[in-house]
Amino acid sequence: MKLLVIGSGGREHALAWCLAKTPGLQKVFVAPGNAGTAADRALENVAITDLDALADFAEEQKVSLTIVGPEAPLAAGIVNLFRARGLKIFGPSKEAAQLESSKDFAKRFMARHGIPTARFATFSERAPAHAYIDQQGAPIVIKADGLAAGKGVVVAMTRDEAHAALDRMLPAESTYAPTGSTPAQVVIEEFLEGEEASFIVMVDGKDVLPLASSQDHKRIGDGDSGPNTGGMGAYSPALVVTPEVHAKAMREIILPTVRGMAAEGTPYTGFLYAGLMIGKDGSVKTVEFNCRLGDPEAQPILMRLKSDLFTLLDHAVAGKLDQVEASWDRRVALGVVLAAANYPGTPRTGDVISGLPKVSEYSEYSEDSEDSHIFHGGTSERDGQTVTAGGRVLCVTALGDNVKRTQKRAYDLIVGIHFDGMQYRHDIGHRAVPR
Ligand code: AMP
Ligand code: GLY
Repeated sequence: MKLLVIGSGGREHALAWCLAKTPGLQKVFVAPGNAGTAADRALENVAITDLDALADFAEEQKVSLTIVGPEAPLAAGIVNLFRARGLKIFGPSKEAAQLESSKDFAKRFMARHGIPTARFATFSERAPAHAYIDQQGAPIVIKADGLAAGKGVVVAMTRDEAHAALDRMLPAESTYAPTGSTPAQVVIEEFLEGEEASFIVMVDGKDVLPLASSQDHKRIGDGDSGPNTGGMGAYSPALVVTPEVHAKAMREIILPTVRGMAAEGTPYTGFLYAGLMIGKDGSVKTVEFNCRLGDPEAQPILMRLKSDLFTLLDHAVAGKLDQVEASWDRRVALGVVLAAANYPGTPRTGDVISGLPKVSEYSEYSEDSEDSHIFHGGTSERDGQTVTAGGRVLCVTALGDNVKRTQKRAYDLIVGIHFDGMQYRHDIGHRAVPR
């Protein structure tokens, strides 16, 4: 059996690493992959990114199932394309992926279905948007209405910041173009207070299988300071997701979303990620939806997965998720992202990475007993060396009995690793460590 994972980040390395344990597996192709997926046992990189060419490849190689990591190919309709050609793929259709690809779509959908989220208004012109900011006051949140790799959001603490962010995001003199094109709309929303968590589930159109909870660290700097990033580290489970919060998230957010999408003729299939804001009063609100696994959340989550991932995916694609359960390692998993120079701005690439475990050690690392793994993200191979090739370069992930010990294990592993400009947070998991 051959499988295909699409993407090149840490999440895709974790997916492929997890799928490499599938009984009866011949190979997991990763398109386009990174230096980590190039080196791991049973994985093979394929240098294809064009969607039609990916479908051709899946057909030629008789790939049993394709799993899509990032949002861009989903939003571009890769699932529609594969399905039209009779190829099995796990992910949402282009229409369903709008839950992530358009903030305005997601907000209107939540409003229609009574799903708890921040109050909002959408604007395509500056003047009324500025007036709305003046009327609402700060803090307030300004979001570009398109895919922005977690960077199209400004949480403005003052009105001045909000006005400035708006001017950057809306066209006219705009120079702000997170995905290469200027977003035509902004969503302005109420600032929510509380603690965030990532609540990720698998969906087969009607049934839901929740994955273990996790918590990301979105800001670049220690103590949650500095600009937002795609995520600088994560751990699982998230303490803040108590059984009550879990039940509420399922009842008030996930199930109404899955039912609502089906009722509107765009049934949701794939990983569904609800970013939760958990208030002190126990309220649970939706900050955002993503139509995929989180990165870096996937790395600790998948390290804890004891069930066979392929079996879960296979049932999901067959519409039989109600027939399976996932079991989890009771330990904590925690991953620290090592980011490139200048991230979250345009990252510098080509810096040589030293101190990584050798390929032969990697094979041993791939055994079930392993309690740490270095997942690659933005890395590539150049003249026999591993070099940086993207913003989030590595995610050093460890398992341990509690958050504190797991933190220590992950940070101990980082000590030997170096590349010029390397930046990382020193406090991943801080919200779960008793002071
Ligand atoms: P998003 O891309 O919508 O997830 O936003 C990125 C980050 O901005 C979130 O993870 C939050 O930390 C923050 N954020 C977004 N919306 C809000 C909100 N309404 N209130 C407070 N923080 C927010
Ligand atoms: N880590 C947040 C995300 O994947 O969107």
